[in-house]
Amino acid sequence: MISKAEILIRAQEHIREVFLTESTGHDYYHIQRVVINARKILITEPADSFVVELAAWLHDLGDHKLHDGVDKSEELINDFLSSLDVEQQVIDRIVEVVSQVSFSKGNTPYSIEAEIVQDADRLDAIGAIGIARCFAYGGSKNRILFSPHKYEQINSSIQHFYDKLFKLKDKMNTQSARIIANKRHQFMQEYIAEFYQEVGFSID
Ligand code: NI
Repeated sequence: MISKAEILIRAQEHIREVFLTESTGHDYYHIQRVVINARKILITEPADSFVVELAAWLHDLGDHKLHDGVDKSEELINDFLSSLDVEQQVIDRIVEVVSQVSFSKGNTPYSIEAEIVQDADRLDAIGAIGIARCFAYGGSKNRILFSPHKYEQINSSIQHFYDKLFKLKDKMNTQSARIIANKRHQFMQEYIAEFYQEVGFSID
């Protein structure tokens, strides 16, 4: 039977193949950073590290943004893990954890493993890396960077800070993620203040 270590290596290889050319901010290195964030959180949060790490590798595989609005997580995770002869019980667990992670579905995780993967994913959406991903994603959707006019501002990348990014630090599940999130949040606030200063926009 395939070992846990081997499954993780094969998952990494599979994800590298599928995601290397993705350019909307969900590229292979995003997923790798989520795995690294998850490992950091695991240092202080006792959990099943194999489930956390495997779910982190596979968390964006079936994401609806990459499949014309349809979430294919369950199907693609099943296909991939059964091709490695992973037990169905383990596959179901990974599918369950991944289904609890997505921000857009507004799901609340109910296992520590899902809480950790969700935190790890959200950490990559904030701070310096989060800013870069926000503009890359906005560009892929033909969004403007910023407008001083409210009616145009609604669909801009800067607006996305208020709609999502600034809210994430209060949504962390684990204490270790919260500490990292606070630092990244502060950096985004400084960034926005500097941005407004450069473009001559004052918040009233
Ligand atoms: Ni992700």
